[in-house]
Amino acid sequence: MSKTIVRILEKGPFVIEGEVEVIGADGQSLATKNGCAICRCGHSKNAPFCEVVLDISKDRTVFCM
Ligand code: FES
Repeated sequence: MSKTIVRILEKGPFVIEGEVEVIGADGQSLATKNGCAICRCGHSKNAPFCEVVLDISKDRTVFCM
């Protein structure tokens, strides 16, 4: 099993690199992805995912906050 990495971007989301399952507050699975960005600013219309980082493999420079 490869290591999953969580990067905390200054003025940006938590960027998760690697296989991840995101579980909502109600305990239901929201998505299983190979990498994603979790919103920290509280303004995403696609919460809990960051709506600014669309492709984390190409663009890690985000300033959502
Ligand atoms: S951190 Fe909230 S939209 Fe990106």
